[in-house]
Amino acid sequence: MFSLKEHTAIVTGGSSGIGLATVEVLAELGANIVVADINEEAGGSLIESLHKRGTKALFHRTNVAEQGDIAALIDATLTEFGSLEILMHFAGIGLEQDALETSRDNWDRIIGINLTGSYMMMQAAGRVMVPNGYGRIVAMSSMAGVRGGTGRTAYGASKGGVAAMMRVMSMEWAEHGVTVNALAPGAIETALVKKMHDEETRRAYLAGIPMDRYGTPEEVAAAAAYLALPQSSYITGVNLPIDGGFDASGVIKRG
Ligand SMILES: NC(=O)c1ccc[n+]([C@@H]2O[C@H](COP(=O)([O-])OP(=O)(O)OC[C@H]3O[C@@H](n4cnc5c(N)ncnc54)[C@H](O)[C@@H]3O)[C@@H](O)[C@H]2O)c1
Repeated sequence: MFSLKEHTAIVTGGSSGIGLATVEVLAELGANIVVADINEEAGGSLIESLHKRGTKALFHRTNVAEQGDIAALIDATLTEFGSLEILMHFAGIGLEQDALETSRDNWDRIIGINLTGSYMMMQAAGRVMVPNGYGRIVAMSSMAGVRGGTGRTAYGASKGGVAAMMRVMSMEWAEHGVTVNALAPGAIETALVKKMHDEETRRAYLAGIPMDRYGTPEEVAAAAAYLALPQSSYITGVNLPIDGGFDASGVIKRG
């Protein structure tokens, strides 16, 4: 019943973490895959392993903060596969720095990749999908863009911005069969989190998560795949929490 055969998906940030797990699920569902990332080495070996399993796949070195790279990515995708049905835009970077310390350079870097990159990538995909009358776009927000957290001035702003932009695009493209949603993960155990979360941060997170654990990239990938299906046609404009109950929780937690 659930298949992505004859669908082509671009996955930005597909070389690692949540993007990588999502590539695996989409490939399993039969999609053609384009991995767009700055990490060529990991991306290259992923493509090799997909080819061995019979998936049509392509790596395209793309810095999502560069308009020219995005244009070349769309060109390469259409040349290789002839269409673009799915965008999973997950490339992003983290920063933990207090508001008083956040430098203009760091602000520009985080906003440039996470927010401006999302604007350019989602717009470029929309320009293909809207005239075609079909598309599934899944952007990457974060719980840090929904709830306040110390050290998240630039990162939280970038992810809150992604959610706001996603809602606008979902409205503008609704009549064209293009759904636009975002994922808002809480703490997910990936390379990015291993770098960003020290023991104190981990303890603070766990105290607020009803499920008492971090999530896995595979748990995020399952939600991403669901939003990529043709059957998810009546879901748009949603910023979906994938957070073990964190967003729903209040002050009191048992045990
Ligand atoms: N891990 C979490 O807890 C968590 C929570 C909420 C949101 N997120 C978001 O999920 C996304 C994926 O995070 P992850 O934890 O899998 O991280 P990750 O570091 O494992 O993967 C990120 C990928 O993006 C790529 N990338 C970075 N900058 C890029 C650029 N300018 N252009 C192209 N590719 C670039 C990296 O090379 C890497 O392959 C990010 O947008 C992150 O902000 C993660």
